[in-house]
Amino acid sequence: MCGIIGYIGEREIVPVLIGGLKRLEYRGYDSAGICVINNGLNVVKKKGKIFELENQPELKEIKGKIGIAHTRWATHGEPNKTNAHPHLDCNKEIAIVHNGIVENYHSLKKLLENEGHKIISNTDSEIIAHLIEKFYSKDLEEAVIKTLKLIKGTFGLAIIHKNENKIIVAKRGSPLIIGIGEGEMFVASDVSAILDYTKKVIYLRDNEIAEITKDNYSIKNLEREKVDGKIHEIQWTINQIEKGNFEHFMLKEIFEQPEAIENILRGRLKKGKIKLSLNLDVGQINKIIIVACGTSWHSGLIGKYLIEEITQIPVEVDYASEFRYRNPIVNENDLVIAISQSGETADTLAALKEAKSKNAKTIGIVNVVGSTITQDVDCGIYLHAGPEIGVASTKAFTSQVMTLLLFALYIKQEKGFEIEKKMLEELENLPGKIREILEKSEEIKKIAENFKESSNFLYLGRGLNFPVALEGALKLKEISYIHAEGYPAAEMKHGPIALIDKNMPVVFLATKNNYSNKILSNMQEVKARGGRIVAVVNEKTSEIDKLADYVIEVPETLNYLSPIINVIALQLIAYYIANFKEIDVDKPRNLAKSVTVE
Ligand code: M6R
Repeated sequence: MCGIIGYIGEREIVPVLIGGLKRLEYRGYDSAGICVINNGLNVVKKKGKIFELENQPELKEIKGKIGIAHTRWATHGEPNKTNAHPHLDCNKEIAIVHNGIVENYHSLKKLLENEGHKIISNTDSEIIAHLIEKFYSKDLEEAVIKTLKLIKGTFGLAIIHKNENKIIVAKRGSPLIIGIGEGEMFVASDVSAILDYTKKVIYLRDNEIAEITKDNYSIKNLEREKVDGKIHEIQWTINQIEKGNFEHFMLKEIFEQPEAIENILRGRLKKGKIKLSLNLDVGQINKIIIVACGTSWHSGLIGKYLIEEITQIPVEVDYASEFRYRNPIVNENDLVIAISQSGETADTLAALKEAKSKNAKTIGIVNVVGSTITQDVDCGIYLHAGPEIGVASTKAFTSQVMTLLLFALYIKQEKGFEIEKKMLEELENLPGKIREILEKSEEIKKIAENFKESSNFLYLGRGLNFPVALEGALKLKEISYIHAEGYPAAEMKHGPIALIDKNMPVVFLATKNNYSNKILSNMQEVKARGGRIVAVVNEKTSEIDKLADYVIEVPETLNYLSPIINVIALQLIAYYIANFKEIDVDKPRNLAKSVTVE
């Protein structure tokens, strides 16, 4: 949600900042701006996507060695040029870019206005520039610390002053990294912004502030005491953050799923044993609670089925946004698992905080290395799925499900039970089976074309495939703007059946499992009411042929692994429908990749 890049060094600065913003555009894309120090502060801002900012003629004139830039996803104040970052103080000496939310901005704004500050935007962020101005007397770091002590809420911040050869950055609840170069330094909200230049980064921790010059950095806490910053070597490559020959990141990421699954298994499945570096006494776990949002919540629901069946440990799954406020019953014998692709989702972070305050043991299942959740948990499992840039999560979902299955098998193994040979074999076979379904993408595209005019969709599944139905519906609504709902198939007759007519497509997850026959009865009920059926099956039978208008055959696998195969068919349906509707699939309206605000 919003992206920050800053640079200090000898390169031509505008291409570095604009290039960084383009890499960050998936985090927010309603307005953008840059500010470079050169005889004062040179600011260019524009409503709209980064290419619109890039086309501003004033940009060509801008030269300098120190600058900051921002791409916005609006929270306070509509997307327009005034509300775009960077924001300046009254004297136009200080510029800030901010990710996060200043919760007490109304009272701070009042205070500043009473002191004569003119606040021109409707954002919460602008007051940060004015507060720094209020406290500034030739020591930018000191003024920023005084400001941060007043602010309630979250921030990833980069700040410059027209007379100081440095960038100040600070973090609380919103990511901020320092990229270390040779005679140059970068700051960013996300490694993808600076991967073209350096792979050495430091992840700031909450309530840390850093002063960055072209050759040096110094990290402190808000008491101005020095703290160490561990340098990490980024494993992601430039190819991973580029679309390559794919039309969209989402499609690329759908096609990366075989490798993503291989990456999870690599090093974790050896000679029939699951190896996870978890500092965990599995015998002590009384109950598991999974907290997550959106797609990650759906993988959590699948995790519940898997963990309960495989380990017999009871599992609850909570929306992180609900868990954080409902005073949940959690204690030191419980294990709370936070699932998050980004590792930055505000609600999930808050849920984790709630769990820790009740002394629960915590685990993170996260994709982004070094993200805030990974800093906050007792231990964790990385997905290692590579960067996910498409706003609609795809490979992170299947990687999360795979990780949850490994986790369940690990508990079983640690309790002294063998993992069945059939399961071990099928884990090895899974990437190949995913490739088989991907080979059907043209077939699925043809099916999708029939639904580009639809305005509603129903997705039905049972057991492990009920959350897959939810995920299929979420994928479709996010990127095609078609209203879609997922239901347990048996629930249809308790209400949604009233919606069925010739205009209602119904996607059935009807692969082989204990419920297959029951799903066939549900299909008959839809057929009898004139609904249009898309069936995801393992095998075309004459019965399916009679009932379904469109059939997608996917490879058969173990029931535990079927969500991973089946969801890929649904990801492709959603992608192609949205593409037929000519929607920018990677940047669907109103959404941003990582939701770092409440
Ligand atoms: O980064 P997280 O996994 O914590 O994000 C959670 C949700 O915001 C995310 O899954 C969202 O629902 C995606 N847009 C789904 O495609």
